Amino acid sequence: MSRVLVTGSAGFIGFHIARRLLSNKHNVIGIDNFNSYYAPILKRTRTDILHTFRDFISVELDLSDQDSVEKCFRDYQPEIVCHLAAQAGVRYSLRNPYAYEKSNVAGFLNIIEQARQLEGTRFVYASSSSVYGGNTKMPYSESDPVNTPISLYAATKRANEMIAYTYHHLYGLQTVGLRFFTVYGEWGRPDMAYWSFVENMLHGETIRVFNHGRNSRDFTFVDDIVSGMEKALFSPSLDGYEIINLGNNQPVQLMEFIAVLEDLTGVLARKEMIPAQPGDVVSTYADISRAQEKLGFHPRIGIHEGLARFVRWFEKEESLTRAVRAFRKRAES
Ligand SMILES: NC(=O)c1ccc[n+]([C@@H]2O[C@H](COP(=O)([O-])OP(=O)(O)OC[C@H]3O[C@@H](n4cnc5c(N)ncnc54)[C@H](O)[C@@H]3O)[C@@H](O)[C@H]2O)c1
Repeated sequence: MSRVLVTGSAGFIGFHIARRLLSNKHNVIGIDNFNSYYAPILKRTRTDILHTFRDFISVELDLSDQDSVEKCFRDYQPEIVCHLAAQAGVRYSLRNPYAYEKSNVAGFLNIIEQARQLEGTRFVYASSSSVYGGNTKMPYSESDPVNTPISLYAATKRANEMIAYTYHHLYGLQTVGLRFFTVYGEWGRPDMAYWSFVENMLHGETIRVFNHGRNSRDFTFVDDIVSGMEKALFSPSLDGYEIINLGNNQPVQLMEFIAVLEDLTGVLARKEMIPAQPGDVVSTYADISRAQEKLGFHPRIGIHEGLARFVRWFEKEESLTRAVRAFRKRAES
């Protein structure tokens, strides 16, 4: 069993991979700064669940603090690094550019710099479908050019891939960059459309439909992402520098997505149709042949089942989701 450092362990995907690793008897050291980009109570609750496993250690620190990161590596000597902490969100990056510089550039450098000093480690990190920018060739393939990111968030994710290449080239560090495509599921992210749509529909509020509903996304259920990540962490047959799409390979039109939610919640959505936002891409669609070949990746959960699971979870965790909503309302006022 391995000692795995998971950064962003209080976040949505970090929580899920940490829980899977702990269930499979690995030791997990989880790093997070519990920032208030969205309700910290959700991050604390996820972390409380991870603490029910004996082999989980939580370290609260900010990745941009070089000394703290160095100390954490010295204290816990991880064998594998799974780097998920980042400032996420495309729209937020328009108004808060320096948050991305701090977490996604300085923070990334601090982690990879420590990782390369570990003997024979593997460095698996989150990239994003957003690196494909305004590309129109579909589906997006890892061999497509990715030189035109259209948001600062995307630019920092592409920068991560390039830094990883340099560290592989200079130090022989084995790096695996996973380009996630719109991940959703239980314990998800309140800033993403699937959460705010369900929340607003259940509270009888209007949902805001960007680009007049013309966008489509390759929604990927979190359990499928976690299965792909597990392979990326442990599969023996990977090359020294890897970039791999993890998507569902089944893009869904936003209006169809809303129709599924209406069906599941029994609520007819009140829609406000609004123009596209700067930085947003119109469509995402993953070519997953590389993930299939290298990771044996086969997404299993379609949009109906995935959203049904999310809606069930949302209703079951009513007091938590109400607290998350109250936090956001306070932040907006
Ligand atoms: N969810 C998606 O659809 C999606 C799609 C593409 C890429 N990604 C990437 O996957 C990763 C995980 O995303 P997520 O959806 O779980 O997001 P999330 O916001 O839920 O999780 C990120 C976690 O990192 C922590 N964090 C941020 N900056 C930090 C810092 N400086 N120091 C310590 N901790 C810090 C946050 O507190 C948070 O708990 C991110 O790198 C994100 O960019 C996610």
